Amino acid sequence: MLNKKIEDALNEQVEKEAFSSALYLAMASWAEVKGMPGIAGWLYKQSDEERIHMLKFIRYINERGGQALIPALKQPKKDYTSVKKMFGEVLKHEQFISSSINDIVAVCIDGKDFTTQHWLQWFVNEQIEEEANATRILDKLNLLGDNNLYLFDRDIVSLRAETTAKGSEAEG
Ligand SMILES: [Fe+2]
Ligand SMILES: [Fe+2]
Repeated sequence: MLNKKIEDALNEQVEKEAFSSALYLAMASWAEVKGMPGIAGWLYKQSDEERIHMLKFIRYINERGGQALIPALKQPKKDYTSVKKMFGEVLKHEQFISSSINDIVAVCIDGKDFTTQHWLQWFVNEQIEEEANATRILDKLNLLGDNNLYLFDRDIVSLRAETTAKGSEAEG
């Protein structure tokens, strides 16, 4: 059974994952309208993954005797001044999520809930990947400068494929 403090912390994370999903969906929509289907595709998939993260939290809370709460979300920003700035915000957001996950781990240790602490380890590892992916994209964008977005838009499709291949290697 989850203690109330841990249940609340997990429910706050449900909201953060739901917002992450909405944020990347808004970014995907912006990129699609701006004529960058590769970048939009990457962001749509990212949004789907965040929804899966949200569902993992919901199912875990309910399984452990709590009740997952479905939050109302604030509307994500709809415009970006550049692709580089947008991915800068992706990295910042993922760093924020990493520190949020670490905070919940600390609450679990404090409350001696080692089961939830252990369960959260998947997210700790996932956040290493998430930050690395955003950093890799920003490095590429810095190399390209503000030109050659056309090439980047094609390149980012293979970046997702590499990550997926690496992920299934790790799982298999
Ligand atoms: Fe996430
Ligand atoms: Fe993420």
